[in-house]
Amino acid sequence: MSTDALSITDKRNDRTYEVPIQKGAIRAMDLRKIKTGADDFGLMTYDPAFLNTASCQSSITFIDGDKGILRYRGYPIEQLAENCSFLEVAYLLLNGDLPTTSQLDEWVDSVTHHTMLHETTKTFLEGFRYDAHPMGMFISTVAALSTVYPEARNVLDPEIRAKQIVRLVSKVPTIAAYTYRHSRGLPYIYPDNSLTYTENFMNMLWRMMEHQYRSHPMLARALDILFILHADHEQNCSTNVMRAIGSAQADPFVSVAGAAAALSGPLHGGANEEVLRMLDEIGTQANIPAYIEKVKAGHCKLMGFGHRVYKNYDPRARIIKWTADRVFEVTGRNSKLEIALELERIALEDEYFIKRRLYPNVDFYSGIIYQALGFRPEMFTVLFAIPRTVGWLAQWQEMITDPEQKIARPRQIYTGHMQRDFVPIEQRTGVSVSA
Ligand code: CMC
Repeated sequence: MSTDALSITDKRNDRTYEVPIQKGAIRAMDLRKIKTGADDFGLMTYDPAFLNTASCQSSITFIDGDKGILRYRGYPIEQLAENCSFLEVAYLLLNGDLPTTSQLDEWVDSVTHHTMLHETTKTFLEGFRYDAHPMGMFISTVAALSTVYPEARNVLDPEIRAKQIVRLVSKVPTIAAYTYRHSRGLPYIYPDNSLTYTENFMNMLWRMMEHQYRSHPMLARALDILFILHADHEQNCSTNVMRAIGSAQADPFVSVAGAAAALSGPLHGGANEEVLRMLDEIGTQANIPAYIEKVKAGHCKLMGFGHRVYKNYDPRARIIKWTADRVFEVTGRNSKLEIALELERIALEDEYFIKRRLYPNVDFYSGIIYQALGFRPEMFTVLFAIPRTVGWLAQWQEMITDPEQKIARPRQIYTGHMQRDFVPIEQRTGVSVSA
């Protein structure tokens, strides 16, 4: 018997099977041969939230949740955040290696020259109510780009794919900025090609009557670092959605829109907005112990805490704290920081959080910096979606080119009625089938 194999004895019939182990996993399809008879479908695994199921093989992002390690294409996140621009990291994620000077110049030039939106997209945005949530506008507008670029549906053509990747990376900041301008009733600002990716984003957000908008270099760099930290995070909820939609060969615009919809949820990217609301609700440091008790009693969650994979300090949260200090040197300290720091201190000493290995995640401090940079909480998840678009696209491209990937289609364990006969409406009792 191979040593890299699992020996399984089926107690229902005392048969033994050998299942190969590769890269620390067994293939679920190898379990299908475990049957009690010819009409038995074969054994499946049941894993409703993918707690222990690898859905793909990927060479993009590595996380060791116990040790608090995050690497893009093998490079530690700390080194990338310290030394790279966001577009350099985007190139790395999308292409597998850090760019040379000429590769970077060409990539930056390409992204810079695709930032404009088709004029009809502005009219489309006008249809939203004045108080529409920016994330809802972002999702819908990204999806609407699918109608502007119908060739994008040729997802098996590498050149067409590459073109849509440039378009999406270039245009998401413009869409994000326009959702903000719409919600403030301000005119849209066209991109400025002389600025960097983040500077241009800030220009489209905040330029008023001045000839050219100049962001503070430290604040632009802080936003660039935040973008680097949020660019990818392996098979998280929204990336899984991106791969699932993409597996049906839908175009990348609607696939990114679907992934962004998943990101908007409060358990995922929407958590950064919720953290700010929570800090507002807590109000003062004196109220923290009572709030912690409420969390422990199960009345609410401590937003920005806990992670499916990290059971140690999220390495991104550490860099965000460092970045926050640099930002506050420019903007002055945000009063919410004191509450957040104290909340973290108390939580990390509390048995409830220690036992469950709950640490601050990326969303715990990001909102505080975003607010200091001048963003309103409704924009926070949009700020997450801009860089994560790069991760979604890198994972999408990997999925499309992976010969093992097919349309994502999980199995289920059916628990309903097997078969019953139709009942005419006048004879029905009205008892519901299930709650
Ligand atoms: N506050 C209080 N208790 C918590 C929290 C929290 N933030 N997170 C987890 N727990 C408890 C949970 O109630 C459970 O307790 P018990 O064993 O007594 O039932 C235990 O810890 C394990 O949690 P879980 O819900 O089984 O863990 P999960 O892996 O399914 O969920 C999570 C991960 C991120 C959804 C969850 O920790 C959470 O809801 N956190 C708050 C929302 C948040 O900050 N989300 C951002 C995640 S990081 C960025 C991103 O992915 O977008």
